[in-house]
Amino acid sequence: MKVISTVTGIQKQLETTHRKPVGLVPTMGALHEGHLSLVRSATLECAQAVISIYVNPTQFNDKNDLKRYPRTPDSDLKLLNTVLREDDLVFTPTDSEIYPTPDKRVFHFGNLDNVMEAKRRPGHFNGVAQVVSRFFEIVKPDIAYFGQKDFQQVAVIRELVRQLNFHIKISSNPIVREPDGLAMSSRNRLLEPQIRKDAPVIFKTISRAAEMIRKNDIPEIKKYVTGNINERAGFEVEYFEIADDRELRIVESRKEMEKGKKYFGCIAVKAGKIRLIDNIEFPLL
Ligand code: PAJ
Repeated sequence: MKVISTVTGIQKQLETTHRKPVGLVPTMGALHEGHLSLVRSATLECAQAVISIYVNPTQFNDKNDLKRYPRTPDSDLKLLNTVLREDDLVFTPTDSEIYPTPDKRVFHFGNLDNVMEAKRRPGHFNGVAQVVSRFFEIVKPDIAYFGQKDFQQVAVIRELVRQLNFHIKISSNPIVREPDGLAMSSRNRLLEPQIRKDAPVIFKTISRAAEMIRKNDIPEIKKYVTGNINERAGFEVEYFEIADDRELRIVESRKEMEKGKKYFGCIAVKAGKIRLIDNIEFPLL
């Protein structure tokens, strides 16, 4: 693999090797198996893989979160080296490469930018759209890889591609979990030991909730989810919503669930000082 930090460097390298298709995996580093599963898909499906590592300041509405976001550049490169081929590229730009001038673009994603994460993290998806569109313009990938873990982000990126008319296939990949069920996340390493021990309650609870939909309606399920998680010391549910994966329309009863759509139960939990998200498919009856 080659590690490159400038836009001109990446573009020159892509021109020289000229392999197609090009697969892009955007990340913020602190890499784990969840990221690596995307990288593996890119190397299996694309002649050229480009992995970006960049902690994007414009998507952090909470400046403390940006400050304490884990940064592990050495171990990131070591991990990538185990998966990438000789001509694959790791793009590690600085702020001035990505934003030579401040990015003032404002995107409009309608309902996608009003519900769940968007409500609690104002401006977050605008920042994600800024940085991802910038990467799309620099790398011009044929396929871009994202994780289903960030359920709402995938819907926003699909809409971004539609609005800006990018000819890029968006590949959405399954959530990779720890052996105890906790969804892998760069933020997991910030959890206090007791909170980390109890954190599997999140996936256990939403898994049970996805089974309950056969016999119970949504208000009861929501009550169960909130009650079961909040009874653990240090855990507090911010939201639990069931929504389809394209328009993110939130449903409040089973009869609102339409055939032909896919629904997911999406949760955000404050676990100690750290905010965790997860989701699971809710089967249609
Ligand atoms: P980051 O949190 O580093 O995640 C990079 C990609 O890895 C995202 O598409 C995310 O959904 C995926 N991912 C994270 N944990 C995963 C897991 N347990 N299983 C499967 N995939 C997982 O998401 C971002 O960075 C940023 O918003 C970014 C898109 C890079 C823009 O800055």
